[in-house]
Amino acid sequence: MKKLSLGVLVSGNGTNLQAIIDACEQNQMDATVAVVISNNPEARALQRAKKRNIPHAAVANGPDGERNVLALLKKHRVELVCLAGFMKILSPAFLKEFPNRVINIHPALLPAFPGLNAVAQALRHGVKISGATVHFVDVGCDTGPIILQSAVPVYDDDTEASLHERILKEEHKIYPQAIRLIATESLKIEGRRVIRED
Ligand code: GRF
Repeated sequence: MKKLSLGVLVSGNGTNLQAIIDACEQNQMDATVAVVISNNPEARALQRAKKRNIPHAAVANGPDGERNVLALLKKHRVELVCLAGFMKILSPAFLKEFPNRVINIHPALLPAFPGLNAVAQALRHGVKISGATVHFVDVGCDTGPIILQSAVPVYDDDTEASLHERILKEEHKIYPQAIRLIATESLKIEGRRVIRED
């Protein structure tokens, strides 16, 4: 079976990218990372791609940035775009190029705490449970149909760092799982709901 070709967009550390690369290399899914693109040339994620001999590039943030990202994704024949800590909002025109083919991981149980600093938002709000969400990307900010979620407890002595670490562990499980479900064409989107068909 042909492997689903992934383009992973990153800005930072890249632990989710690593989880995706590892899952691909261990044949846990019929997918392969075709290209890694960062809007931050210093991103550790780029080093992770380099180490595994995966094509990678840094693109500038200017007005041509998104066009360059698109050109790279097309060049590498990407079929699914995975945002993994990518700190930029994609335009509606970009999303039209990949209908229902852009997914994101968010460090909270959406629709709670969308946008920036989700972990800090959750702590400040005083929730007792938080978690991670993988969702399809639509034109809103963290508003697209939800694919998978995983919950973690919030402890009284949690800091933003300790809670984020607990959430990241879940992210590293559910992001590859979500990609696997897409690779096996096991998902159907009905309005806001993502239904499993297998
Ligand atoms: C993750 O918490 C992800 O949910 C958020 O940005 C963080 C990226 O972490 N969107 P990493 O770069 O994958 O380590």
